[in-house]
Formats: sequence, structure tokens, C-alpha cells
Amino acid sequence: MSLISISGLEKTFRSRQGANYTAIRDFDLEIHEGEFFCLLGPSGCGKTTVLNIIAGFDHPTRGDVMLDGRPITGPGEDRGVVFQGDDSLFTWCSALQNVEFGPRLRGMPKGERETHARKYIELVGLGGQEDKFPVELSGGMKQRIQIARCLANEPKMLLMDEPFGALDAQTRTIMQEQLARIWHQNETPVLFITHDIDEAVTLGSRIGVMTAGPESTLKGIVEVNLGDERRRTDDDFMQVYREVYDMIREEVLQSLSREDQEEAA
Ligand SMILES: Nc1ncnc2c1ncn2[C@@H]1O[C@H](COP(=O)(O)OP(=O)(O)O)[C@@H](O)[C@H]1O
Ligand SMILES: [Mg+2]
Repeated sequence: MSLISISGLEKTFRSRQGANYTAIRDFDLEIHEGEFFCLLGPSGCGKTTVLNIIAGFDHPTRGDVMLDGRPITGPGEDRGVVFQGDDSLFTWCSALQNVEFGPRLRGMPKGERETHARKYIELVGLGGQEDKFPVELSGGMKQRIQIARCLANEPKMLLMDEPFGALDAQTRTIMQEQLARIWHQNETPVLFITHDIDEAVTLGSRIGVMTAGPESTLKGIVEVNLGDERRRTDDDFMQVYREVYDMIREEVLQSLSREDQEEAA
């Protein structure tokens, strides 16, 4: 059984004045245990819409969205959501208290939850930084504490919507390496949303490419068989990159021409 199973998904945004907008239509996707699934598509195609529906923040207009064979009806601890900005941490709590927050809500006793939280801070490579407050941490560190906070709830999967989009290029590369390492060690399945082909090929075990909207659907899936040590300059890396690039190129062109038309109108 798939971990996530989406079939016949449609999402139409109702408008009070203008026309309704069907962002997603006839969208099918299966995500399996243990995989790192990257969902890639041009800006505005509906990636966030799909993630929000899986997270339970929004509801489908039509179609089935299941987690472990059960329909998703709302948000839940079984899905850990990592947001793009680094401002979702509690500023008045230390790194440790932030990571302890979920286990504490679940009623884990103090000693146990501290050990538990420390384990996840260690996992994201921030052992020793437990007592720092968010204001004392860099953007990349805050993002890693956010990941630790999600993992401390031991979710069935992580949902990440362009989580490194706000970081500078060097920090971003380091964060990608860290996330790959965390995923190999922790094995929690990930749905990772990005518009960056390079990022998808660096991280993904499969890459799903979406068509340009409206009525965006899944254009195809590329299997990535590159192993753990991926280098951008390796031939096999570039081969996958090209395959994905060819798939997405015409979708980006289409979404650009739609923007031009909208501007002209
Ligand atoms: N709440 C909303 N109401 C109306 N339109 C929306 C709403 N949310 C998203 N959209 C539209 O749906 C499309 C997909 O949006 P989104 O999922 O955010 O795209 P992406 O994450 O791929 O950039 C866009 O055209 C966007 O304008
Ligand atoms: Mg988005």
C-alpha cells in the first residue's frame, strides 16, 4: 500500500467576483514508504496547493487523497510540515524547548523528552546549540531546528515546500547535503517541493514534473538512480538533469506566455 495515494484530484478556487480558477485537475500521485519524492513545476502551477491538501490545510474540490489508506480530513501530527521561512520557531523558546514542544504536548515526561529532543538536534548536526534562542541562530540553523522539531514528533512523512528558498546559495547547498544525510539516517519519507531542477536531482529518489496551470496535472515521473554521493559534474547527474529539464522546459515557456497574455489583457 502507498503511503500517500492521490487519485483524480481537482482543486478549483472559487472566486466571488471573477471566474473560478481550476489550479489542479486529474492529478494522480502515489508516494511510497522510504522515498524522497520531489515535486517540481513552474511557479504558479499548483505545487503548494497539492502540499496544502496533503497537509490537510486545504481540501480537494474532487478526488481522493489518502494517507495509509485513510482519507485525509485535516492536519495531523502524522505529517510534519517544514515551512519556507525561518520564522516559524517560537522566539521565546530555546532550540531545545522548540524541539521538545511536540513531545511535551503528547505528554512525554520531562527527562525522556529532553533526551528525545537532544537526539534530533544531534541528528540535524546542531549538538551543543540546544540553549540558543532563534535570534542567536543563522537562517540555516533555524531551518535545521525546524526539521528537528518536526522529526521529534516522529511523523509518517515530512512535507517541505521550497524550504531552502529564502537561504543564500552557499547555505542552501549545505542544507541540501544535510537534508540528504538526515534522510539517509532517519528514513522518514519526504515530499519535497521545489522549482529548482538542480535541487530535485540532488535530493530526489523520484522526481514528479507538473504541467503549467491552469488544470495542472502530473506530466511524468523521473526515477533517479544516482546513489548517495551525487556530484553535479558527474555524467549521470547531468543526464538526469537533462531529462528533467526537457520535461519542464515547455511547461515553463507556457506559463511565461500565459503571464504575458495576462499582462497584455
Ligand atoms: N486561495 C486561492 N485563491 C485563488 N487562487 C489561488 C489560491 N491559492 C492558489 N491560487 C492559484 O492557484 C495556482 C497555483 O498556486 P500554488 O499552488 O501556490 O502554485 P505554486 O506553489 O506551484 O507556485 C496559482 O495560479 C494561484 O494564483
Ligand atoms: Mg508554492
